[in-house]
Amino acid sequence: MNNSTILQKIKSLPTPFYYYDMELLENTIDTAKREADKYGFHLHYAVKANFNEPVLKMLAQKGFGADCVSGREVQTSVKAGFNANAVVFAGVGKSDVEIDAALDLDIFCFNCESLMEIEVINELASAKGKTAQIALRINPNVNANTHKYITTGLSENKFGINMWELDSVLETLNNCPNIELIGLHFHIGSQITDLSSFKNLATKINTIQEWFFSRQIMVKVINAGGGLGVDYHNPDGQIPDFSEYFKIFNDFLELRPGQEVHFELGRSLVTQCGSLISRALYIKNGIKKNFAILDAGMTELIRPALYSAHHEIANLTSTSKTILKYDVVGPICESTDCFAKDLELSETSRGDIFQIKSAGGYGEVMASDYNLKTLYPALYSTEI
Ligand code: LLP
Repeated sequence: MNNSTILQKIKSLPTPFYYYDMELLENTIDTAKREADKYGFHLHYAVKANFNEPVLKMLAQKGFGADCVSGREVQTSVKAGFNANAVVFAGVGKSDVEIDAALDLDIFCFNCESLMEIEVINELASAKGKTAQIALRINPNVNANTHKYITTGLSENKFGINMWELDSVLETLNNCPNIELIGLHFHIGSQITDLSSFKNLATKINTIQEWFFSRQIMVKVINAGGGLGVDYHNPDGQIPDFSEYFKIFNDFLELRPGQEVHFELGRSLVTQCGSLISRALYIKNGIKKNFAILDAGMTELIRPALYSAHHEIANLTSTSKTILKYDVVGPICESTDCFAKDLELSETSRGDIFQIKSAGGYGEVMASDYNLKTLYPALYSTEI
């Protein structure tokens, strides 16, 4: 963002809006792909992290599959260029309409999360005279050591099929002629920075596979989910450690010949390339600090309000040498509408441009219409 052409462009536009550094996105994607290719791993992109068209198009062009959690995500992905036969459809609550649409597109795989869901997909596939390929999403009961709201792989969570249900699942599968079991799927959570959690997942997958092997079942696909975290404290140009991440799975997963390993990464691919750009509307004196009131709030980026998430913030335009403490807040009538507390910034004036970093993943996609504020269209570095 030190580039003066970009700053001039940004200054000329109404705020708030998201800015995407497409070169960083491409470098990040290329790095992930290169590291995965070393082991022949297959990559899907978790569309929920960011479904902007240029972002989706780039990932599709680079040969990623799409990991979707709704019918509209499936349709949007296919429209953006992902091959339907590389689309996986996950989620605990797929509706009949969504399942039907996915069957019509002949997607690669439904990641199934309950016994009842398998029966429903069987019924809907049978009505169309089709066979649906499915993977069982198994809850491996592995701790991801991340924020409790984004932990998914513990038995107390609503996600996946528990180990004690597997016998009944196999029985059900025997009565579902329109279902073909092709894979096992796992996802233990998001923003995982303690990589030993992935080692624990890999070894747990081995144990679970043994259970299947002992029943003469060998699936083709092992999908280890997503979850690789990013460094929210050092955002500038940061590319996550894909090399170490994939190496862990290569080192610890025990595979049988012909088995494929799939991943569905979201945050690690798209977070650092995106920023929320906002203007300071007012400066207001508080006790021992000031409030910098921005024109963006929790309606544009909800992560700080929802998860107490940290995002680095920069004042891009102040040239003052005076450093002051600010609470950087939004305009919404909720006390949780705060991006940072007691942040040291160069003295801020009305009109200064702010960059809230690491906002490419789960940023714009989680923006809401609350208060009917205006979020202006995204700006892409390739347009400047
Ligand atoms: N696969 C499944 C089944 C998932 O549920 C998720 C994310 C992913 C893959 C992608 O995970 P990633 O690689 O992005 O960690 N809104 C929250 C994050 C929610 C993540 C939900 N599931 C946030 O802003 O931190």
